[in-house]
Amino acid sequence: EGSERSERLRALDLAAKFYNHIVMNHDAGTQGLTYLLGRNLSKKIIMDYQLGYAPQGEQTLVDFLQKRQISRETLLETNLAVERSGLLRDRFRHRVMYPIWDFQGRVVGFGARSLGGEEPKYLNTAETPLFQKGRLLYGFHRARRAIRKSGMTLLAEGYMDVLALHQAGVENAVAALGTALTPEQAVFLKRVADDVILLYDGDEAGQRAAARNLPILRQAGLNVRVARLPSGIDPDEYLKTRDASAFRVEVLETAVSGLLFELQFLTRSHPNHLTSDRLAYLKDAESILARDESAVEREEALTYLAETYQSPIEALREDVLRLRRALE
Ligand code: CTP
Ligand code: MN
Ligand code: MN
Ligand code: MN
Ligand code: MN
Repeated sequence: EGSERSERLRALDLAAKFYNHIVMNHDAGTQGLTYLLGRNLSKKIIMDYQLGYAPQGEQTLVDFLQKRQISRETLLETNLAVERSGLLRDRFRHRVMYPIWDFQGRVVGFGARSLGGEEPKYLNTAETPLFQKGRLLYGFHRARRAIRKSGMTLLAEGYMDVLALHQAGVENAVAALGTALTPEQAVFLKRVADDVILLYDGDEAGQRAAARNLPILRQAGLNVRVARLPSGIDPDEYLKTRDASAFRVEVLETAVSGLLFELQFLTRSHPNHLTSDRLAYLKDAESILARDESAVEREEALTYLAETYQSPIEALREDVLRLRRALE
């Protein structure tokens, strides 16, 4: 049992080294290297994160690992290979490879990106006992110290966001693998630091993911703020044109409280919130406020509502307090 597990870990580690060796040193990896450099990643980051390239061949990795006494069973269990017509074939071909580590820093799976527009854009290792997406956070093993030191986690959406942030010197960034966050990930983050800034893409999917994941993070006792990126931009794209200090000032420092984010998100279901739907919007906004436990955040949100909707703050506050008493 324990030896099976250690052989799997060994296979995954060898695979990461293989893909990285190909991208750094081999003609077969040229396309991968060109792709990564074209995305502004330095060779240092490629080495630090063991980024790689899975070559075109049907069983390049399989051959490499079998020469190193990795069993057929292990190749299949780690999802590094798949079986086709009775033959072992590489699972990942012609893709840029992002090793994914567990919290102890062991490679447990891969994200694999297509170089052109081929779908799916990302292919991930299938769920295995070693690779459970809901229990991992990309980049955590390297971000841990910076998260502890700053008391804050930056939670982004993607691999490239974490890498671009780290390369810019913003080291407390991690990503869930995909947009769905689990309570287990949130509880884990809370053990390391109390504050989280959600750094999701400035598109519809990103904003929805922020709205969905906010309560999960709060439930774990985290103080959450939500960053607003320019429309259609993710952190990686932002850092192509702006440096880390601009990022800190324009994105991190302007992040809004979770409560303010919810109020702004609520406007989506009230398209005429500034005109005909103003009172209905305010009523819904007040009940969101009433459920927030932070008096400081409530006051800030009251000020925001009063200013934006030209409504007397005393009246808003009175409504919210009445609603709070009703909740008790
Ligand atoms: N993702 C995935 N499978 C997909 C699409 C996305 O697993 N088919 C996950 C990946 O972890 C990805 C994250 O969701 O990093 C965010 O998706 P998206 O914003 O579309 O990708 P980016 O990280 O911006 O990737 P890139 O910059 O390489 O396009
Ligand atoms: Mn070689
Ligand atoms: Mn996205
Ligand atoms: Mn993105
Ligand atoms: Mn991106």
